[in-house]
Amino acid sequence: MLDTKDTRARTLAARHYIRADVLENERELFLRSWQLAGHVGQLKEPGDFITLSLFDQNIFLVRDRSNVVQAFYNVCPHRGHQLVEGSGHKAVLTCPYHAWTFGLDGNLRGMPKRGGAGAPERSDVCLSAVRVEELAGFLFVNLDPEAQPLAEFAPGLAAQMLERVPELVDLVVEGDTAYGHTYTCRSNWKVMLDNYLECHHCGPAHHSFDDMMNIAQNRFELYQNYTYQCAPTAMKADNAAFRLDLEHDVLEGQFWFLFPNTIFGQFPGARGFYASRFDPVTPDLTERRSLSLTTAAPTDPDMAERNRLRTEWSTTVVSVEDRNLCENVQKGMHQRGYQQGWYITDPDAHDISEHAMRHFHDIYLAAMGEES
Ligand code: FES
Ligand SMILES: [Fe+2]
Repeated sequence: MLDTKDTRARTLAARHYIRADVLENERELFLRSWQLAGHVGQLKEPGDFITLSLFDQNIFLVRDRSNVVQAFYNVCPHRGHQLVEGSGHKAVLTCPYHAWTFGLDGNLRGMPKRGGAGAPERSDVCLSAVRVEELAGFLFVNLDPEAQPLAEFAPGLAAQMLERVPELVDLVVEGDTAYGHTYTCRSNWKVMLDNYLECHHCGPAHHSFDDMMNIAQNRFELYQNYTYQCAPTAMKADNAAFRLDLEHDVLEGQFWFLFPNTIFGQFPGARGFYASRFDPVTPDLTERRSLSLTTAAPTDPDMAERNRLRTEWSTTVVSVEDRNLCENVQKGMHQRGYQQGWYITDPDAHDISEHAMRHFHDIYLAAMGEES
């Protein structure tokens, strides 16, 4: 764990949240960083595939016949058409344009009109590979062939997740689409992460969450390129958010952030786990894509109903509260009367301390080549 004694008091300047040239530099940073692509549970059999887009770069992941998950740019080497769409299963990959076919290992298998002038040797053509790695069951891609492996970038993260959520290995993907839902917010992606990385706002802005939790006992831990947050509930079955089953439910929230734009966690309530990627669309607009895991079988007969109540609360209460806060702050970033804020940090009061957010900003500034 890193210590939290840094003393920088001023936050990222407003320009980091609103300027197109900053987003252009962030784009390069994102395309050189580990980006959440999905979960191994989505690629159970050889031929199962999922797709994703990072800015304008289209990628797909497929389990090959040797049972290895491969990632490729989703583009045909013949003339550039996209190869696959959405998610599903394919024995071979056939390009919709001129029907060149590729094996699951990316090698060219056939062309309908072989032997035309200029046709390349089959062995000279294969799909362009992308780095892919697994972290505690989650799949990440990186468009930088030289990128540091995830285990070196965020040492100890996978082991920590598996140790603190031992059931993670047994959870299954909820629903069969790559990302269960997309949440759009009219704010910069960093405003959303700043909001995620502190609970200073939980008391004033999330009354029902505050009633369910024991915010005073909230703890953040800082690590190389990630953070961990432990958020115990107040152990109240009946509370203003949604009901908890004190026997079967998760009673201590656990939340991780992996730089630059991934979060993972286990929310209090019915057992499960989620992961999200924050995709900047413009400096003022972000799409959060989420994937949920659940238990293979219900923990008790009432679990589905509690899950439904939590989802309803999450989408109609806490997400609305956070979206309103973030969208309001984004307008603030554009005000000529605002240039830069202050961090409130206290090593003993993690219920109000913003040191995890500052840690994010320190990593960010270093990655962007700026002084902190
Ligand atoms: S572009 Fe794919 S076969 Fe022609
Ligand atoms: Fe919040």
